[in-house]
Parts: sequence; structure tokens; C-alpha cells
Amino acid sequence: MRGENGVTIRTMRLSTTPLLCAALVFASACATRPPAPVAEDCTYETPLTPGVPGSPGHLVPSDINPNGASELAVRMRGMVADWRTAREALQAGKPVPGLPLLPNHRRIRCSWPTAAEDRNPAYDGMAQAYLAQVRAFDEAPSVKTFNGALTGCAACHEATCGGPLAVIEGLRLH
Ligand code: HEC
Repeated sequence: MRGENGVTIRTMRLSTTPLLCAALVFASACATRPPAPVAEDCTYETPLTPGVPGSPGHLVPSDINPNGASELAVRMRGMVADWRTAREALQAGKPVPGLPLLPNHRRIRCSWPTAAEDRNPAYDGMAQAYLAQVRAFDEAPSVKTFNGALTGCAACHEATCGGPLAVIEGLRLH
């Protein structure tokens, strides 16, 4: 996945570089340029792009929230869906589809929340703790690593907003 993205980004970069560079598309002069950061590498410090769906002033129409959903809220719902799918597979004793989850889930570090100030160092620390659990699940999917990831969700929600805790606890496998 990383490789694919690397190629895409490099192609995009070349289209904005001078023609000479475009002509040297396979030459090392271009190939050795450091690749632009891809979403999988984003951190708390990655600047967010104004105007994308879910950014301030561009909330995504939502059945749940009449004000619309932020980019982060949309991602959270996607994570809930991913864990529901994983839960069903674990219960059925089948391989979990769609792994690894980490490349997508790690984008919670670089998504617009409803209030920009909520993307702060404390949030990012909890995001990284959650993502470590996601990595553990990707590497060895089991009831234990599944519940570990949900503990990562709950830790952040206990500290930020408790509303989704019922959903999180409802997902747990016993
Ligand atoms: C690092 C903190 C953090 C982690 C980890 C986290 N969340 Fe969230 N979550 C938030 C914040 C902050 C919001 C509010 C988003 C916004 O500002 O719009 C949110 C919103 C939500 C929502 C509401 C979305 C909506 O429609 O408004 C749900 C549901 C949710 N999270 C579930 C989860 C689940 C399940 C997990 C784990 C798989 C998880 N969260 C992990 C911080 C976190």
C-alpha cells in the first residue's frame, strides 16, 4: 500500500515540476527527491488541508448530527464499521477481512475534528496509544487484541467525550 502511494505521489509531484524534470522521469535526479508525506505517514504536526470534506465550513451531511459531521467524526464511524466487521469474523472463526487496519485508522492523527483545538498533544498521545493496539491486532488478530483496541478507543473517549462509550463497550467480545 505504501509502495502504491509512493508511486502516485511521485507522479503527482512530477506533473508540477519543470518540464526538464518531467523528461527525466526515470532519471535519478528526480527519483532521489524525498517523497512528499503520504497520509500513512501523517502526524499531529501534519498541516490539515482547508476545504476538504469535513473541514470547518465544509461539514459532511449527516443523519445523526444536524450540524453535519467533521472529517474525524466520519473516520470514527468508519472505524466502528471496521471493528464490527472484525467482530463478526472473530465470532465466526473466520479470517478478518480488510487487514491491515492501521493505514486508515492512523489518519485520526491528521483529520479535522469539529473544534480544531481538540487536535492537541494530549489527543495525539492517546491516538498513538490506540494505534499501537491496532497494530497489535493487525499482527495477531484475536479476541484479546480486539478488546485491546477497544480499550484504546475508550481511554480517549473517557478523556474527551463520553457519548460513544456505549457503542465502544457494546462492541467488546467476552
Ligand atoms: C485519540 C482519541 C480518540 C480515539 C482513540 C478514538 N476516538 Fe472516537 N472520537 C474522538 C473525538 C475527539 C471525537 C469527536 C470528533 C469531532 O470532533 O467531530 C470522536 C467521535 C467518535 C464518534 C462519534 C462520531 C459522530 O458521528 O459524531 C464515535 C462513534 C467514536 N468516536 C467511536 C470511536 C471508536 C469505536 C474508537 C475506537 C475504534 C474511537 N472512537 C477512538 C476521539 C477518539
